[in-house]
Amino acid sequence: MATGPIPLIAGNWKMNGLRADAEALATSLVALREGSGAPACDMLVCPPATAIAAVADSLAGSGIALGGQDCHFEKSGAHTGDISPPMLADLGCAYVIVGHSERRANHGEDDGRVRAKAAAARASGLRPIICVGETAAERDAGTAVPVVLGQLSGSVPEGSASDIVIAYEPVWAIGTGRTPTLKDIAEVHAAIHGRLPDIADKAGSIRILYGGSVNPGNAVEILAVPHVNGALVGGASLKPDDFWAICQACP
Ligand code: PGA
Repeated sequence: MATGPIPLIAGNWKMNGLRADAEALATSLVALREGSGAPACDMLVCPPATAIAAVADSLAGSGIALGGQDCHFEKSGAHTGDISPPMLADLGCAYVIVGHSERRANHGEDDGRVRAKAAAARASGLRPIICVGETAAERDAGTAVPVVLGQLSGSVPEGSASDIVIAYEPVWAIGTGRTPTLKDIAEVHAAIHGRLPDIADKAGSIRILYGGSVNPGNAVEILAVPHVNGALVGGASLKPDDFWAICQACP
């Protein structure tokens, strides 16, 4: 990654950890960062909703940003169990993940729903991290790029600008220890980069993250791929030393 926006390394903690675990993880990250100085990237953690408030306290003044893992597309109302963008902002969140493949698969979220959530997030001053990615069958059928570009066009709200983040996460690479070849990552990121000017303003400043089995062993080479502007990290983000090593792998 020779030029482009400052990378973003985002930890998606998923449904892991009670408050004490989350506080311990956040406190470890703060200590690592204070020990070695800020890395060449923006750092973000997305704890489970139940731990966001506690983590906000642990991260206060650290320079590490906080995000939600999902949000509703309305500000308030009769939506039992849901969390709105203003509620996340109220806790100190600056980002929210929308359209993660686990939400798309387990909660039937389609592109239209993801787009509405991303629009609502922006309206509340949050930066949506909009996830796209092909399944194994789509990759095998040779349709990864058109599938991803279709999701991108369907999921990015109108009027978007550099406040949005795109995360390319091949579904088959998430939590599996398998990653695409660097050539395949480069191909999809170049395709997303090429399409963004058609659907968003200031497209050159929009970060495109890679996600799916990123770890300290593969981070350097993945983060060096053209148009890879950071990573969305699941499993490895639960281990402070691993997450910190990935942050330090930014070029
Ligand atoms: P993983 O998850 O790093 O555990 O593969 C990535 C993600 O789901 O965002």
